[in-house]
Amino acid sequence: MTETVKNGPARDEVQAHRGASALAPENTLAAFRVAAEQGAKWVELDVALLADGTLVVIHDDTVDRTTSGAGSLGELTRGDLGRLDAGAWFKDQFAGERIPTLEEALKVLGELGLSANVEIKQHKHHKSLDQLTSAVQAALRTRSPQTEIMISSFDPGALKAMHQLEPELEMAMLWVQVPQDWEAQLAGIPAKTIHMHYKAVSIGLLEEAQKRGIKVRVWTCNDPDALASFWRAGLAGVITDDPRLFLS
Ligand code: G3P
Ligand code: MG
Repeated sequence: MTETVKNGPARDEVQAHRGASALAPENTLAAFRVAAEQGAKWVELDVALLADGTLVVIHDDTVDRTTSGAGSLGELTRGDLGRLDAGAWFKDQFAGERIPTLEEALKVLGELGLSANVEIKQHKHHKSLDQLTSAVQAALRTRSPQTEIMISSFDPGALKAMHQLEPELEMAMLWVQVPQDWEAQLAGIPAKTIHMHYKAVSIGLLEEAQKRGIKVRVWTCNDPDALASFWRAGLAGVITDDPRLFLS
């Protein structure tokens, strides 16, 4: 019998970070389209609320870095999105891209046959966790039945609140470095998955996690060689700016 050595992630374990953000402006519909063109099955995207409660797909708590405008999300409303170009900063060819709402993003993901890791961001201007997670739930309800969803967050409170609303969804706890007492911390969170920074992963951690039925993915890795020794130790997946690197 030949032994199968796992030397890379399965196709559906390669998530395009903020879409294919090495190749297109992050967290835009263009970045999701490019991810699909590259053969990815999943995208990771970040969500947060505007002042009027609109749930948008954006990483920062301001639009300064990723659009033609400026200002805090807490000062902007849906009506402002039309005047913010979210693509030209990256390359002229993407001029005209907008910050999508989560609902708009999910519509396109459905058309592209993509699934989504929805990372819930907690920002200072957010007024209530209930408002945030209710907005996520409302958007998720509009998705195509083919679009699978997982939820991730650096905020355990967001995972708990989201789990109350959508107990069937996979939940992933985000850590830069996994804390020493990760087992105890995870026991209090409805998450059976850890998403951690790829530079902090170790074979020892993967083995411990596997023994306990905990799945581990790493972010944001654009260097397949850096992960080569971890797949056979149980690393489940990778979140990357450039899915081509892991899909060839
Ligand atoms: O989901 C993994 C990764 O996206 C977490 O970091 O800052 O890129 O959202 P960040
Ligand atoms: Mg993210």
